[in-house]
Amino acid sequence: MPKILDIRGNLSFAEDLNQIPFKIQRTYWLYDVPGGERRGGHAYRENEEFVIALSGSFDVVLDDGRKKQRFQMNRSYYGLYIPKGIWREMENFSTNSVALELGSAPYSEDDYIRNYDEFLTLKSSGKI
Ligand code: TYD
Repeated sequence: MPKILDIRGNLSFAEDLNQIPFKIQRTYWLYDVPGGERRGGHAYRENEEFVIALSGSFDVVLDDGRKKQRFQMNRSYYGLYIPKGIWREMENFSTNSVALELGSAPYSEDDYIRNYDEFLTLKSSGKI
């Protein structure tokens, strides 16, 4: 992400359709995550996301049905784009970490795939 270094404190920013590759329709954030807890554990059919560790650190594990990749979000100026149709898990949250999530669509439970076997079936049949 852009980083404006300043002895008064650093600043980063994000604009939709600029640093963020979609129009932002939703913002939410995860905080007060107890040690050892995991979040995520699902894929979206349509929603795209962009994740930033505003404070502290956590890992995002992305899975396209073939391979998994772990991203360590431990800088406030790192941003992770998650395309639709990708299984995502979030874990290893540090104390007081805050995960900002920007989404391309409003919340809809119908957009979630929460069953991993269903995800693999949809992925291998090209439906997502
Ligand atoms: P969920 O996306 O399952 O959490 P995570 O993937 O981080 O573990 O959401 C948890 C609950 O919060 C679920 O009942 C739906 C609700 N929720 C909203 O109402 N709006 C939102 O934008 C999000 C992300 C979740």
